[in-house]
Amino acid sequence: MIWSALKQRCKDASNTRIKSLFDSDTDRLASFSIECDGLYLDYSKTNIDLSTRNLLIHLVSSKNVGQYRETMFTGKRINFTEDRPVLHTLERNTEGPEVMIDGKAINKEVQRAQDKFLSFAEAIREGRVLTCNGTKFTDVINIGIGGSDLGPKMVTKALTPYADGPRIHFLSNIDGAQIFDLTRGLDPQTTLVIVASKTFTTLETMTNALQVKHWLTGYLGTEAGKHMCAISNAREKCLEWDIPEERIFTFGESIGGRYSIWSAIGMSAVIALGRNNFEHFHNGGKSMDCHFRTAPAHANLPIMLALVGIWHNQICGYSTRSVIPYEERMEYFPDYLQQLEMESNGKVVKFDQTEIQLPSGPVIWGGTGTNGQHAYFQHLHQSNIITPCEFLVGAMGHEKDFQIHHDYLVANCLAQSEALMCGTLSEVSQNLPNYRNFKGNRPSITLLYKMLTPHVLGQLIALYEHRVFVEGVVLGINSFDQWGVELGKGLAQKIYPLIKDENQREEGFSKSLEELISKAHSFRKNSV
Ligand code: F6P
Repeated sequence: MIWSALKQRCKDASNTRIKSLFDSDTDRLASFSIECDGLYLDYSKTNIDLSTRNLLIHLVSSKNVGQYRETMFTGKRINFTEDRPVLHTLERNTEGPEVMIDGKAINKEVQRAQDKFLSFAEAIREGRVLTCNGTKFTDVINIGIGGSDLGPKMVTKALTPYADGPRIHFLSNIDGAQIFDLTRGLDPQTTLVIVASKTFTTLETMTNALQVKHWLTGYLGTEAGKHMCAISNAREKCLEWDIPEERIFTFGESIGGRYSIWSAIGMSAVIALGRNNFEHFHNGGKSMDCHFRTAPAHANLPIMLALVGIWHNQICGYSTRSVIPYEERMEYFPDYLQQLEMESNGKVVKFDQTEIQLPSGPVIWGGTGTNGQHAYFQHLHQSNIITPCEFLVGAMGHEKDFQIHHDYLVANCLAQSEALMCGTLSEVSQNLPNYRNFKGNRPSITLLYKMLTPHVLGQLIALYEHRVFVEGVVLGINSFDQWGVELGKGLAQKIYPLIKDENQREEGFSKSLEELISKAHSFRKNSV
């Protein structure tokens, strides 16, 4: 009922120019923007008007988002396909209300795990934990993939101005090229290796970890263990790897990989940035949690961001969403959001086992501005495919000596959303040839903040986490499992022996796969 009313609104709105909504509603900007703890969201440059918004908000109440939200924060087993609660918000708020799991309060246990990895990170930074030669570690390799890589990699890069610890490097891909290039430039005598894997079974991570262990052992012999530590939920498996108990940093089973940056998985970032900055980052997340739990829907950043997303994807049918931070250091933010959103909500099976009849979330992609302006923005402005854009920008940069750069950066960001909305048709003389015209009327939202600090980054990540949650609840899907990644992983294990040994055979594969395998073997033979 609400969905069909929304579809009708979409049809009706197709003849309305976004720009004209500002004329018909002089309070539009005030109504279609939200500011919370220094984070300002402007979603006025969309074709959502007051009646559409009312319908969208009705969707939130009819799907009991508020009730689900509380079940998440209070530790109920909402990840029902894995029979787990969802506890990443507790990682950033251990001193908050007790969260009870199976009748047991777990805040203190989580706090102890946090203290253990935070103290270790500080000890590395301060030189209280040293290399086997008694010197300070200068470099750290975080070996992990997916959530055990993207979060710490994105945060470490985004907060570069705060980094005063050892240099952090990330190793994720099974491609030997990455490990080769990385280790070639590093000195094992001064490098600490973190094996970050929740399960401690992930093919890429364990293969890379074994290789790096050999690399360390080649130089350090039996002392190599002093250069390794592990972050995992699988303590026993870490022990089997000869990682001593005091170097195993655990986090709860109920922290999903893509939500794990708040836990020990964030350790490489803490080694770079220090405990204080990580606490500011946590506080930013906590501030967003508080806002999410208390603000009414129309003034609630995650709820409104989710509803804008639902409007564009499920109602208007725009199949992709571009995330464009005007922050070079946020280079990995689109990748991070890709996992967060697409691994969480790229599904069709609902709570009740039926399938959703709507698109199952947009393709998330993007890159930093202004670089993207010189690559894919042509398509955003003049193609016949509409891509809702999400711009992020800090009013100030960290580099006081580069003010002119920052002024241009902000100007460019604001110019793009204005150009996308306004186009040229109504303003510019009719004499322009068609190829010079911009139809405009392309939706975007802008997130503006003072400066990219640890607090702001914490807010932003929590904002997007909760947005994904709201979208999931409204669609009726479990955002916290990822069964969709299993099939390909399993097949790769079956195909591996056939790649390794050309005499191996396996029945039941497609003709295309058989031919690709045999071609790969013949290319190998013909290679010089
Ligand atoms: O491939 C899916 C996935 O399970 C992600 O959800 C996760 O972040 C990643 O693999 C890495 O998993 P792990 O931390 O267990 O190595």
